[in-house]
Amino acid sequence: MTQDKEPVIRTFHLVCTVTLIVGAITHLCEQSEFEVCMSKSNLTHIPKNLLPTTKSLDMSQNHISELQISDIGFLSGLKVLKLSHNRIQTLDLSVFKFNRNLEHLDLSHNRLHRMTCYLVTSLKHLDLSFNDFNVLPACAQFGNLTQLSFLGLSAVRFQKLDLLPVTYLNLNHLLLVLGGNYVEENVRENLPILNTKTLHFVFHPKSLFSVQMNIAVKNLECLQLTNIKLNDENCQVFVTFLLGLTGGPMLLNLTLNHMETPWTCLVSIFRFLWPRPVEHLNIYNLTIDEKVEEIKFVYPETTLKSVTIEHITKRVFLFSQTVLYRVFSEMNIMMLTISDTPLVHMLCPDKASTFRFLNFSQNVFTDSVFGTCSTLARLETLILQKNSLKNLFRVSLMTKKMASLEILDLSRNSLGSYTYEDNCTWVKSIVLLNLSSNTLTDSVFRCLPPKVQVLDLHNNRITNIPKDVAYLESLQELNVAFNSLTDLPGCGTFSSLAALIMDHNSVSHPSADFFQSCQKITSLKAGNNPFQCTCELREFVKSMGQVSSAVVQDWPNSYKCHSPDSYKGTLLKAFHVSPLSCNTTLLILTIVVTTLVLAAIVTFLCCYFDMPWYLRMMCQWTQTRHRARNVPLEELQRNLQFHAFISYSGLDSVWVKNELLPNLEKENLRICLHERNFVPGKSIVENIITFIEKSYKAIFVLSPNFIQSEWCHYELYFAHHKLFREGSNNLILILLKPIPEDNIPRKYHKLRALMAQRTYLEWPTEKSKHGLFWANIRAAFNIKLILASDCDDVKP
Ligand SMILES: *[C@@H]1O[C@H](CO)[C@@H](O)[C@H](O)[C@H]1NC(C)=O
Ligand SMILES: *[C@@H]1O[C@H](CO)[C@@H](O)[C@H](O)[C@H]1NC(C)=O
Ligand SMILES: *[C@@H]1O[C@H](CO)[C@@H](O)[C@H](O)[C@H]1NC(C)=O
Ligand SMILES: *[C@@H]1O[C@H](CO)[C@@H](O)[C@H](O)[C@H]1NC(C)=O
Ligand SMILES: *[C@@H]1O[C@H](CO)[C@@H](O)[C@H](O)[C@H]1NC(C)=O
Ligand SMILES: *[C@@H]1O[C@H](CO)[C@@H](O)[C@H](O)[C@H]1NC(C)=O
Ligand SMILES: *[C@@H]1O[C@H](CO)[C@@H](O)[C@H](O)[C@H]1NC(C)=O
Repeated sequence: MTQDKEPVIRTFHLVCTVTLIVGAITHLCEQSEFEVCMSKSNLTHIPKNLLPTTKSLDMSQNHISELQISDIGFLSGLKVLKLSHNRIQTLDLSVFKFNRNLEHLDLSHNRLHRMTCYLVTSLKHLDLSFNDFNVLPACAQFGNLTQLSFLGLSAVRFQKLDLLPVTYLNLNHLLLVLGGNYVEENVRENLPILNTKTLHFVFHPKSLFSVQMNIAVKNLECLQLTNIKLNDENCQVFVTFLLGLTGGPMLLNLTLNHMETPWTCLVSIFRFLWPRPVEHLNIYNLTIDEKVEEIKFVYPETTLKSVTIEHITKRVFLFSQTVLYRVFSEMNIMMLTISDTPLVHMLCPDKASTFRFLNFSQNVFTDSVFGTCSTLARLETLILQKNSLKNLFRVSLMTKKMASLEILDLSRNSLGSYTYEDNCTWVKSIVLLNLSSNTLTDSVFRCLPPKVQVLDLHNNRITNIPKDVAYLESLQELNVAFNSLTDLPGCGTFSSLAALIMDHNSVSHPSADFFQSCQKITSLKAGNNPFQCTCELREFVKSMGQVSSAVVQDWPNSYKCHSPDSYKGTLLKAFHVSPLSCNTTLLILTIVVTTLVLAAIVTFLCCYFDMPWYLRMMCQWTQTRHRARNVPLEELQRNLQFHAFISYSGLDSVWVKNELLPNLEKENLRICLHERNFVPGKSIVENIITFIEKSYKAIFVLSPNFIQSEWCHYELYFAHHKLFREGSNNLILILLKPIPEDNIPRKYHKLRALMAQRTYLEWPTEKSKHGLFWANIRAAFNIKLILASDCDDVKP
């Protein structure tokens, strides 16, 4: 909007501010130390247990029928007392003589018919309206209430002279609730002149308007009249009444509430008001009676800027629609609001119209409204919210010649998906288009005003924003919340987009390149979407975390995982998956690297520390331990004389005597060596058999030398047999020096088989490994054996 048009709207808010201040005092009661709320509590008296410091007491809507000084006098701090909607019948204002701070006293909607006057100097707001007073309870003392700003009075019988005490006051708001009984008087002299900014008359709702008096008011800015019942006879009476009140130069705002009038009278009122110095005319709840007939008249020059008519009821069914529409469409004012009416149409003005603002919300207008109207060239704002529009193409046609149209509100209609054979013909001047709460689909993007800056499409049925159709270079603000979109749009076709609202859609994995595509974005709202928390989302979460929180309006609390179930409800901000599980290449690379490193370590261990040897030894050690534990002791103890029989080649005897024997005997093991223990005289085979029989284990020291020795082979043979016979495996093979397999002669198939089947202990050449070797050997004997020769005397 351009600068010179601003003031029109500003005066709107200036005019009745007085009324608003008065209204503000009746805010909701909030119980606290100083504020007591006891409305609707079925109370018949003011409770005695209130603190004297109470500042505000709300006792409205109870059953209180009288008020005494003992009820209220002790509340010395009281500033606000609300007693409306009770049953008080008589009142002596002196009950408030101890309430020196009382500023706000509301006694409206009681049954007061008698009041004794008293000056409560602190009063600023005194409401005695809607009571049963016969005549206005205007005390002479009211004239001395210098701080009074609001005064509400009511009377069944009304005569102008009763207002005399009030004329001395300089009020903001004077409310006069009058019964149907008006007393005609003939006091031409001594005209009281009221002084108030707002004057509000409430007439009797059931009586025809009949107040014939000329009341002069100084400083009047707002005139409100409620309950005006007119017919063809009293129409002139009302117009005359208005004449007296609307003459003042300050009057800006005239509000008529609950007016029931014949059509002809309404037109007469318009005709009367047009040349008056009123700027804003509001009519709320208008009932049009009797038939609508054509009245020829041309609106004269006027100071009126706005006319607002809300909630029209028609009691007529047969009438010429055009006559009625014509009266509104030809108004020579800037702003017209006609809302909440059963009107189905509005005509295009006959000649160039002065309308800049038209608000036709909540009627039943159809697509044919205004046709291709060319006389609304000055129209800047058109509000057609909540009507029965269906076809967007026809609406675009309507705007074609509205050369100044900037704001168009088409929200809450029935505009639906439509295949547009023709291109839409929007006027280029539209900057704000509100299409929210319709049933539009993706095709709407093919029918939009080309220069639109703010586009509201929330609550429609859009599933996708086509990337190719809509080139909206000027679009700055796009609202597509509450649709069924599955992804954030790119800004390819919306190069100026600064604000995007798209919460409550169906976005599950939004693209992360949104901020790259939309460089100019300064505000994003995309929460409350069913985000799928998987690897794809990470980039998006990252990009959200990077932009400033001023940009992303609802981050992080509105962004939650919707699936998978394990993450449901988790804030996106708190959603983390390791980069590894998301990147296949990285995963494979990691596995390969780890494997390589492991292999390198193993190779290194093998080469430098002979790892396999250690492993084999460890393995054997555990097996031996295990086996030893499984063998029943008694079985073993029978007939045993030695822990071990050692078979070796004479060529290895140096090792046996220097290494093996000392190590075994250190452990207190009894060892049988053929050269030490064999009984002379017996055959060698006999000796071998006997001693193998008497030994718990048989140790064979294998080496290429061993292979050469025939005896050793025998020993092995017997030992093996013995072991098989006893079902145990008490053979210990020590490989002293490696024997290449080919070197074992064929006839020693037993040995070959044994060496193939059984693990053997290798004698390590490195000294560092000897410890483990001996531990392994010891493990084979790790059993508390009591040998026969030891225990002859011990056994029972
Ligand atoms: C006129 O007064 C009425 C009642 O006080 C108020 O609701 C309305 O907003 C005012 N209108 C203008 C245009 O100031
Ligand atoms: C007041 O009385 C009415 C009827 O006797 C009862 O329905 C209502 O609950 C009462 N309210 C309170 C706040 O006691
Ligand atoms: C009201 O004020 C006037 C002037 O100050 C004074 O003369 C008069 O007595 C006062 N009236 C009452 C009832 O206090
Ligand atoms: C409109 O005024 C009539 C009386 O004229 C009244 O019965 C009705 O309740 C009012 N409607 C509204 C919405 O205020
Ligand atoms: C249009 O009129 C409706 C009903 O009076 C009102 O609620 C709405 O605020 C108006 N719109 C504008 C932009 O003034
Ligand atoms: C569009 O109209 C709706 C009401 O129908 C309102 O809530 C919304 O704020 C409007 N959008 C714009 C951008 O003015
Ligand atoms: C609609 O507009 C496009 C591009 O401006 C043009 O190519 C096309 O011919 C127009 N279609 C019709 C039916 O006018």
